[in-house]
Amino acid sequence: MKIEIFELERRQSLWENIVDYNLTESGFHPYTLNELLNEKQIEQLRDVRIGYGQTNGSIELRTAISELYPGANLDNVSVTNGSAESNFLSIWSILEPGDELLLMLPNYMQIWGIARSFEVNVKPFHLKEELNWQPDLDELKSLVSDKTKMIAVCNPNNPTGSILTKKAMEEIIGIANEANSWILSDEVYRGAEISGIETPSFYGLYDKVIAVGGLSKAYSLPGLRMGWLVSTEEVAEKAWSYKDYTTIATGALDQQIAYWVLSSDLRLQILDRNRKMLKENLVVLTEWLDSLKSLFSFIPPQAAAIAFLKYHFDMNSTKLTTKLRDEKSLLIIAGDCFGMDGYLRIGIGSEKEYLIEGLKLFQEGLEEIIE
Ligand SMILES: Cc1ncc(COP(=O)(O)O)c(C=O)c1O
Repeated sequence: MKIEIFELERRQSLWENIVDYNLTESGFHPYTLNELLNEKQIEQLRDVRIGYGQTNGSIELRTAISELYPGANLDNVSVTNGSAESNFLSIWSILEPGDELLLMLPNYMQIWGIARSFEVNVKPFHLKEELNWQPDLDELKSLVSDKTKMIAVCNPNNPTGSILTKKAMEEIIGIANEANSWILSDEVYRGAEISGIETPSFYGLYDKVIAVGGLSKAYSLPGLRMGWLVSTEEVAEKAWSYKDYTTIATGALDQQIAYWVLSSDLRLQILDRNRKMLKENLVVLTEWLDSLKSLFSFIPPQAAAIAFLKYHFDMNSTKLTTKLRDEKSLLIIAGDCFGMDGYLRIGIGSEKEYLIEGLKLFQEGLEEIIE
């Protein structure tokens, strides 16, 4: 079975630890263990037995996760290695070759690549800039057929940082209901809203929902590799049985830390810290963009540690980002990675000073690259 290159991840994997400035990170500045935990917890980690444990997630952790989703209990939850594994298991366990998947674009392109490799017919519907990055629902309606088995959304969205309106969510549910299709909702950015109002999950609003979450983005703990899916008991169990073939279990230490994060005040403290960073960094970015006059335009993100910039000069986005990488040691994601040349995705979840320095370098590069 062939799979196309996951351009976004590949470019990051190859370069993010080599360049001087990495503005591709789509989450917030990660914590160290010392910053995250108190001394008692660090001491307790020494006694955690490093076995396989309960392979779909410990009872305590699944209970803590289920409490974030009204109406769910621990049997609705499967814990996975990052939200990436939840996305993978959802596609693998639900879709068959020839099924149709209606996929929101732009998007983190993992679901796109996996589904296509499984010979699923992926039909994109689009978030439109002129609609403030809300979906074109007429387009979505026009794509539905009797083969439609799933509608996949990313909410809040990577790369635009937009959040579906209540009305758009209701309409998507209506369309899914009529087609008797699943909704796969990648909600890994839930909790990273500038407004402080947590985006509602699709879980609980319709029967056939798989809601995917994790600690990598809004919670700034990507190295824990902690993700989960919340769905019907049957789907949670099926995904678990498929997971027997992928990674069996998640790390025992990671699960313990995730449990502390999700079951205490720490959860809100982390979200609060990140929201403050996002607000401050958005000001830095906006002032910087203003100083460049008409080189860029953007619709500010409502959530997520990223901004999706449209540039108004003539150069291919991969060429531009390759030049910035090679000549300035600065890494930025090209719109090409989302099938949207003419745009750049820039990470704004780093420490403020780092962002300021990165933007300085970006400006220097722009002055040299565009005549
Ligand atoms: C929307 C979205 N979903 C899933 C992932 C995978 O993240 P992880 O497996 O670290 O949770 C990412 C990573 O960038 C993402 O942006």
